[in-house]
Amino acid sequence: MAAISSPISLSKANGENGYPEIDWDSLGFGITPTDYMYMMKCSKDEEFTEGKLIPYGNIELSPAAGVLNYGQGLFEGMKAMRTQDGRIVLFRPDENALRMKIGAERMCMPSPSVYQFIDAVKQTALANKRWIPPPGKGSLYIRPLLLGSGPILGVSPAPEYTFLIYASPEESGALNLYVEDQFDRASHGGAGGVKSITNYAPVRQRQRFSDVLYLDSVSGKYIEEVSTCNVFIVKDKTISTPPTKGTILPGITRKSIIELARDLGFKVEERQIAVEEMLEVDEVFCTGTAVVVVPVGSITYQGKRIEYRATDTNSVSKSCCQVMPEFKMVRLKK
Ligand code: COI
Repeated sequence: MAAISSPISLSKANGENGYPEIDWDSLGFGITPTDYMYMMKCSKDEEFTEGKLIPYGNIELSPAAGVLNYGQGLFEGMKAMRTQDGRIVLFRPDENALRMKIGAERMCMPSPSVYQFIDAVKQTALANKRWIPPPGKGSLYIRPLLLGSGPILGVSPAPEYTFLIYASPEESGALNLYVEDQFDRASHGGAGGVKSITNYAPVRQRQRFSDVLYLDSVSGKYIEEVSTCNVFIVKDKTISTPPTKGTILPGITRKSIIELARDLGFKVEERQIAVEEMLEVDEVFCTGTAVVVVPVGSITYQGKRIEYRATDTNSVSKSCCQVMPEFKMVRLKK
């Protein structure tokens, strides 16, 4: 069973305008502990009922917890942001709630209802409001987790589950990708299409690259997903992205960009994309909660490096980004 151990002390005093005294210009994508986290528990045959905010801190887990031994866990990623006119908004939290439900079914776990999920996210964001960066300086990354926290030795669903949310301010930058042609991310019939923690465990890292791009596990010819985000190519004003058929995470930013780009008059296709084709396009960009919509600066495949030079005026990802901030945001009460 997961319980709270000593809270981590947060010494950041409030500075100007009630914000903590941190350098908002050098956030990056790293963990900055905030004030509160949210926790809710239930046993295997029950539903989640009531959770609460508690001080951010370490949690205690049985060494036999399902999540530690067999990886029975899911996560979500979402953001709270401040708009220029002072509102605090969340991006499509209902989509994250639904994706966690679908993932929980695949991983044999009970999940919070959509209402419970959104309510808990709102509570966490508001309790950590002072950590939501000033407008234009990044966002508060919110990380909901669903864990098999009860002890289990045989390979079966854990007897207890913990739904936990923590948050950290962050800001992410441009990508230089390495095409991974030795290892696969997911195979057909596996769990590549849900946000299981196990999809992120064997992550490949390559020196000098910000992330790796995986190919399909059957032929090794077609691009699938970057380890932290979805990928798009642009050629002659047509935008293409690989279809989500079980091996690719159905990203919420991905779905939003498809809708938004169509609204903006672009042709958008979901189809198989050969890695060679990618080397000939005008622009490549990635989408995800952490990265939002980020241009890819270069791709390296089998020793060959291609650089992309979409400019501010012709960049499709930048056009989408400009309209993105107001797209389907949910306002949080202040
Ligand atoms: C997100 O964008 O929320 C992700 O899941 C990426 C994360 C693994 C850094």
